[in-house]
Amino acid sequence: MHPGKKAAALAALELVDNDALLGVGTGSTVNVFIEMLAASNKQISGAVASSEATAERLTAHGIDVLDLNMTGQLALYIDGADESNPKLQLIKGGGGALTREKIIAAASRQFVCIVDHSKQVQVLGAFPLPIEVIPMARSYVAREIVKLGADPEFREAPRTDNGNIILDCYGFNITDPVNLEAQLNALAGVVTVGLFASRPADVLIVGQDDGKTELIENTSR
Ligand code: A5P
Repeated sequence: MHPGKKAAALAALELVDNDALLGVGTGSTVNVFIEMLAASNKQISGAVASSEATAERLTAHGIDVLDLNMTGQLALYIDGADESNPKLQLIKGGGGALTREKIIAAASRQFVCIVDHSKQVQVLGAFPLPIEVIPMARSYVAREIVKLGADPEFREAPRTDNGNIILDCYGFNITDPVNLEAQLNALAGVVTVGLFASRPADVLIVGQDDGKTELIENTSR
């Protein structure tokens, strides 16, 4: 396991209160967080999961998985990311869970993103931007993405937890993330864009190879 991921996950655990209702994301960094949470003496009251995989993992550790419709606003959401820029705007969805991740981020008071240092970039877009699309709109959306200057690639993977497909978009140089997110969101057939720009992270915890962490707060929200 990447020492930076471990360090970030451990630092996030310190932010979790006993009895908390937690949003829990998806990916290898969050998996470390779940293992640490389960091994700790913290007793959370339950978690809302951003994917079936995370729900299974939480359940296997005896943590109650709750329906977001029953919880109201969540105090804290912990998730990873594929890239973060200095404004804590993110690319997410490498693991295909972007839609539920965006819903939980929107429904949470504080979004704490945990990454290793390799995820920090000045400009988003070197990591291909995932877009979840209704299957019948695949070709149409792909053509529109080409018009916007990027190269969409159909992800050869099982359907998402919501029954949709993912287009991974190469070549976006994302200098205006809020605007691009809105533009892509407006395409018919797009379910979710893996750009978390209008709702960025509130806190980014960056883990270094030597086990140290840096906690960056978003001052623009
Ligand atoms: C899941 O869909 C993604 O948004 C993940 O949060 C992201 O891919 C980070 O994954 P790792 O923690 O495995 O790097």
